[in-house]
Amino acid sequence: MLANLNDVLQPARKKGYAVGLFNTVNMEMTRGIIHAAERMHSPVIIGTAEALFPYGPLEEIAGYLISMAEKATVPVVVHLDHGLSRGACLKALELGFTSIMYDCSTDPYEENCRKVREMADIAHAYGATIEGELGHVGDNADSYEGELGETSADGRYTDPDQAKDFAERTGVDALAIAAGTAHGAYKLPPKLDFARIREIAHIVEAPLVLHGGSGLTDEDFRCAIREGICKINVFTDINVAAVEAALRRFDDMGKGIIDLLPAVVEAVEQETGKKMKIFGSVAEGV
Ligand code: 13P
Repeated sequence: MLANLNDVLQPARKKGYAVGLFNTVNMEMTRGIIHAAERMHSPVIIGTAEALFPYGPLEEIAGYLISMAEKATVPVVVHLDHGLSRGACLKALELGFTSIMYDCSTDPYEENCRKVREMADIAHAYGATIEGELGHVGDNADSYEGELGETSADGRYTDPDQAKDFAERTGVDALAIAAGTAHGAYKLPPKLDFARIREIAHIVEAPLVLHGGSGLTDEDFRCAIREGICKINVFTDINVAAVEAALRRFDDMGKGIIDLLPAVVEAVEQETGKKMKIFGSVAEGV
């Protein structure tokens, strides 16, 4: 069933778990993510990012993603991740996305506030939810999410008092913070600033989001969630798992695309399910 961020993140915040956002560019990835959510009885957020549009145009993705989400037996949020332009955010809302992220994190603070506030009013009028970003989660060299800037340096980590001001002034339903992660595969293990997460969670009411969820350890996830993270974004790990599975299948028996596609669905399902378990969003006993 279709849901928005409030439907899935408010319970997560109360009960102390996180809901995963998994980005998709095609039908097989989407199928794998929804299969995992249904098998695990877990809510899920499925997204695509503006930088991924060349691999899966927004209109095409909306065409199958929304109807698959409606038919799912668990709550599915259909989310635009890293909307970088006003146009992409408006298009996603028009197409029926139940949630958007308007990423103005590279703009000066006042501009970020003003643009996100305006977009929050529009999204809410659609009955949709909105995520903003403060501080700046950068990219590792091989990030597929796009050119969002360099890997975070300490100066770009989210300031707790500014986070409170930003969340209150913009009315965002979720706030992405920079606390040591980056998009894409890490060359060196990242060092998360858990104290900063705790401090922000203590004074900001909006659920907090951790981007760059691929390559973190189970312990990183558990600590981040314990300190107040409610949504964790993942793409690289499922993207790579899909290709590795397709290559293995090709070596074994593959001749055509129909030999490889089931392996992609299965690999995305496995990797997504593993993350859901660590995030604690799965039903008891699964
Ligand atoms: P990874 O690709 O590092 O998992 O990051 C995903 C992300 O944060 C999407 O917004």
